[in-house]
Amino acid sequence: MVQPLHRTEPQLDCFAGPFAPDPGLEDLLKRSSALLVEWLGESADHDPRPALTLEADVAPAREGQDLDSLFTGLRGVMAGAYRPNHPGALAHLDPPALSVSIAADLIAAGLNNNLLAQELSPSLSRLERRLCHWLSSRVGLGPNSGGVPASGGSLSNLMALVCARQAAELAADPSAVVLTGSAAHVSLNKAATVMGLPPDGLQCLQTDADGRLQPEVVARAIQQLRSAGRKPFALVAVAGTTVQGSVDPLIDLAALCRREQLWLHVDGAIGAVCALVDSQRWRVDGIEHADSITLNPQKVLGVSKPSSVLLMRNVELLQTSFATGLPYMESGDGPQGGDLGLQGTRSAEVLKLWLSLQRLGLDGIERILDQAFHRAEYLRSLLTAPQLQLLPGDLHLLAIGLQPHLADRAQLWRDHTHGLLHQQGFWLSRPDLDGRPLLKAVLGNPFTNEDHLEHLAGIINRSAGEVS
Ligand SMILES: Cc1ncc(COP(=O)(O)O)c(C=O)c1O
Repeated sequence: MVQPLHRTEPQLDCFAGPFAPDPGLEDLLKRSSALLVEWLGESADHDPRPALTLEADVAPAREGQDLDSLFTGLRGVMAGAYRPNHPGALAHLDPPALSVSIAADLIAAGLNNNLLAQELSPSLSRLERRLCHWLSSRVGLGPNSGGVPASGGSLSNLMALVCARQAAELAADPSAVVLTGSAAHVSLNKAATVMGLPPDGLQCLQTDADGRLQPEVVARAIQQLRSAGRKPFALVAVAGTTVQGSVDPLIDLAALCRREQLWLHVDGAIGAVCALVDSQRWRVDGIEHADSITLNPQKVLGVSKPSSVLLMRNVELLQTSFATGLPYMESGDGPQGGDLGLQGTRSAEVLKLWLSLQRLGLDGIERILDQAFHRAEYLRSLLTAPQLQLLPGDLHLLAIGLQPHLADRAQLWRDHTHGLLHQQGFWLSRPDLDGRPLLKAVLGNPFTNEDHLEHLAGIINRSAGEVS
């Protein structure tokens, strides 16, 4: 037992005191949670994507504001915020936050522990290592696996490629090349830049008509690169492309990588969660052969942002690639968080991931996924206008375009239909894929029901029917 220190008065009433429950904090949290609950509960009466409202003052005045003024400003910002729990919010991979993860974010902010080092987060560091190990084992990466949370999928992808290049002992070799498909996420371009790869150090190979990378294409590229004296060291396969939701043929690509001794990174930011439950695992079969996987619980599962994890078959390679040692920190009973990746200070994102998984259980995860895939299939079945072409996909995303012979009207149609949908409370996104204008619906919103989808499909079918 540690001796209590004597009582002091706070110099500012902006921190919760350590001697008794702080009434100021209690009042602030009550008002904040009431405001948030109100904002969430009235979303359906508003535009899912409101026009920007008044700009708030950003420069602090000399005197700090009282709570009433703060809440006036806060309401203004919230009025202009995107509303992910509006049933028509279908634009992106950003579902509503699980309630328990909202609470966990609040607690994590109050704990203000730092996952940089175990000294600063004794219980949370252990929780993080154990949960990452559970996730990596669950997706099938084996007994030496583990991982590290990252602030988004872009960072997970970058760290994976740094480890891959380190493992191939090519860190200082300009002939090193990463291969991926043309539908892979743009974060790989950033990763290549940060890693100092030459302009052709990331090669994006043509995918097939379904948006999937074919092993023959990769095999040919490997041979050509080697003949030219280059050293391909990693393949990034995608389990869920950003526009179509296509999953690359992971089993065959894994066999190819084994034969050719390439590191296989699976960017499963969208689809890797399928490997957590038996009934959906088939969608990402082969993912268990990866050397590393990006998995983003912030996407369909609804863990509040940011929540991404990089999972590694051999977790020790994270330290090999990133450890600097932390000479100013006490050592812990495992590797320090700051030695496992690029980030130093990290918040306790693990808390919301842990509580969310505990709250959902495997059945809850399964239900979220089943319902999202059902919505996508149902919407697909409703979009019947002959002028439409629905792109193939393997997950809960649906990319919608006009038939190729109507290409010259596609952009006008897409933008016009997007406006009609917005007037009716639906917010879809407008990606271009290989120069082709598309509408995209992401069906991960648990508040979108079949009636909404029928309404949505009616608008799209009618608008396509008017194209001649
Ligand atoms: C397939 C894929 N990978 C990586 C990312 C990047 O994730 P983040 O935006 O969390 O950095 C995305 C984002 O949508 C994605 O769709």
